Amino acid sequence: MAVLTLLMCLQFSLFMTVKAVNAGCHCVVYDSTFGKDYGVFTSPNWPIPYEDNINCVLYTFQAEEGEIVEVTFDEFDVQKSSLECHLGDYVRLFLHLEEAAVDHKTRENSILCGKIADIDQTHYSSGQALILEFHTDWRQENNTGFRGTYRFLNKSMFLTDGDPLHGTSCDYQFFRGNNSRSKGYFFSPLYPSTYPRNVMCAYHFMGKYNERVTVNFEKVRLQREDLSCLGSADKISVHDGKDARSPVIGELCNHHDYVEIVSTGPDLYVEFKSQAQFSGQGFKAVFQFYEENFNLELNIPSTEPQNNGLTLPISRESRVHCDMWMTSSLEKNGTFTSPNYPEPYPADVHCVYHFAGRGRERVQVIFTDFDLLQPLHNNVNRDCEGTDVIEIFIKINGKKEKIRKFCGKSLPPQLMSNGPTMTIEFHANKTFPIAKGFQAFYKFVNDFGISVGTQDQQLVCGFLFNSQEQTNGTFYSPNHPGLYPRNTECHYFFIGSKSEKVQVTFTDFDVEGVTPCTADTASDYLEFSNQPSEVTKLPRHCGLKKPKTIESERDFFRVTFKSNSRFDGTGFEAFYQFVNKTDPSSTKRIRDSASNTFSYQSSFLLMTVIFLQVINIKRQFVS
Ligand SMILES: *[C@@H]1O[C@H](CO)[C@@H](O)[C@H](O)[C@H]1NC(C)=O
Ligand SMILES: *[C@@H]1O[C@H](CO)[C@@H](O)[C@H](O)[C@H]1NC(C)=O
Ligand SMILES: *[C@@H]1O[C@H](CO)[C@@H](O)[C@H](O)[C@H]1NC(C)=O
Ligand SMILES: *[C@@H]1O[C@H](CO)[C@@H](O)[C@H](O)[C@H]1NC(C)=O
Ligand SMILES: *[C@@H]1O[C@H](CO)[C@@H](O)[C@H](O)[C@H]1NC(C)=O
Ligand SMILES: *[C@@H]1O[C@H](CO)[C@@H](O)[C@H](O)[C@H]1NC(C)=O
Ligand SMILES: *[C@@H]1O[C@H](CO)[C@@H](O)[C@H](O)[C@H]1NC(C)=O
Repeated sequence: MAVLTLLMCLQFSLFMTVKAVNAGCHCVVYDSTFGKDYGVFTSPNWPIPYEDNINCVLYTFQAEEGEIVEVTFDEFDVQKSSLECHLGDYVRLFLHLEEAAVDHKTRENSILCGKIADIDQTHYSSGQALILEFHTDWRQENNTGFRGTYRFLNKSMFLTDGDPLHGTSCDYQFFRGNNSRSKGYFFSPLYPSTYPRNVMCAYHFMGKYNERVTVNFEKVRLQREDLSCLGSADKISVHDGKDARSPVIGELCNHHDYVEIVSTGPDLYVEFKSQAQFSGQGFKAVFQFYEENFNLELNIPSTEPQNNGLTLPISRESRVHCDMWMTSSLEKNGTFTSPNYPEPYPADVHCVYHFAGRGRERVQVIFTDFDLLQPLHNNVNRDCEGTDVIEIFIKINGKKEKIRKFCGKSLPPQLMSNGPTMTIEFHANKTFPIAKGFQAFYKFVNDFGISVGTQDQQLVCGFLFNSQEQTNGTFYSPNHPGLYPRNTECHYFFIGSKSEKVQVTFTDFDVEGVTPCTADTASDYLEFSNQPSEVTKLPRHCGLKKPKTIESERDFFRVTFKSNSRFDGTGFEAFYQFVNKTDPSSTKRIRDSASNTFSYQSSFLLMTVIFLQVINIKRQFVS
């Protein structure tokens, strides 16, 4: 283990390597890019393999006042001899420095080793200085080391456009006074550098009475773990109202790009919590206040019919365009049809049906009649090539993506959006022989189409099943028996009385994925736990691994469903039944962790338990 004693890096010019005053560390200082946009740094001898027994080389990057440092590794090959890189060869990064110096007590923000694919390539300082330490051990393994670039960035690019709240470390208020901005950025603390551990930041958005707030999380880089958000130690929660007691309409953990969330009223409350061992980069988000009426006028041409009953002249001359907006603030449900329905639709039609919800709302679409023109020679046309077609678009990572196409005469499955918006397009070229078109019912729902159990307002999609209310019943995936929405996480909590346990029997199971149903296999999954929080030893289920009858160990049971942005299925349906534990000696199962029994009365209690559980898990890691 290298022992670093206090080091003073004097200002030497570029690429000059000198022995540091007190310790076995060499020092290199970069304080200018010499008129270029960026500078280059490398490990000793790069690209020739570095030597063994380099105790340490310190690379110090020193920015001017008001600037921060960005370093990016373009090449990286450092011998990996331990999982966490703290043994063998490594690069340690010090990002949160008050001044350009480190000693043996300075805690690094990250340790890197391995190949380029194993590391985060870009890192940022929080202040003017960034130091990286390169260390190699006695083994000569012919690794080439690293080559990287560094830049100095103006800190003003990362200033939150709100008012910091006095007496808090990172809370902001965005109040719509007369001169305040209607649009701007907000960031996690120290962004673009890593956020500190154990912080909690609140962002209060307060619009005028007729305004709504949209937040778009352009980049979210929290601690990367293949867990559901319920068990994540770092997370962002979005509440539809003034404070943390308001319903949760968005929860983000892990990594995301361009996730948009819209308030239903003038206020929105965003909370960011970090409790994980290793911090991620944090988040960067845009907020915008807009006046409801203005927005609607902007989006909906008032000359167009806004709902069903659309009648267009049959025209063989020119293309018929129609654009229809279904907004939840105007109508929570309704029908939409092809032009002229139930008469045949005209030739050369392009219709776009836009659905715009808000808050937790998802749009559910149920086709009730479907008859599109189909070439006679091709009855089964899976790709719908060269036929009249309905296409379904949703937003994935901020981009409009086509997820499904339907054609012919068979009724499409029931559909649900992954967020507040969805677009359906109808394209038709010919009308001979004639076809009737389609009719569909749409509905904006807050419950993900799950009408069993009691919805927990402190989760985006969470349902409680209490044996006091009902001792048996069914539960199912969002939008079942239709296709489940993408990027969706739902939790089902079963709460029995002390002597009870619950049995769950699956009647339907179609969850896309391959075992072991992890992020590596891009799988959607179903997970079971005897604990409210995430840590579970029970295997996940997806694809061909259909669960049989599953029995809880005790009076609490959790079922979690999680889908990603790829593929979809019809999900699951299951029957649950609370039973009294008759023969306790026969139950011999793995216990996930502590075996205390809880009784859940409210979602508040539930959240408290989850919180305590997270603390416990942390303690176990520490000890
Ligand atoms: C490293 O390269 C040298 C010279 O090419 C070679 O002799 C040595 O065996 C190599 N060591 C390893 C561990 O591959
Ligand atoms: C950073 O940007 C601000 C605003 O654009 C400017 O006033 C300031 O001088 C810049 N600072 C540096 C160090 O370039
Ligand atoms: C905003 O402007 C209106 C009139 O222009 C004024 O009556 C009101 O006091 C102002 N509010 C604030 C918070 O400055
Ligand atoms: C449609 O919405 C209306 C109120 O806007 C409601 O009364 C009705 O029950 C809804 N219909 C369905 C099928 O959800
Ligand atoms: C409609 O016609 C256009 C151009 O003639 C063609 O590119 C497209 O594939 C056709 N679409 C269908 C659904 O037939
Ligand atoms: C389910 O509960 C109902 C009462 O709510 C009861 O009548 C019925 O027998 C139960 N079904 C089973 C299979 O236990
Ligand atoms: C279990 O036993 C308790 C006490 O006898 C009773 O109140 C409860 O209804 C039973 N639960 C079920 C699911 O049968």
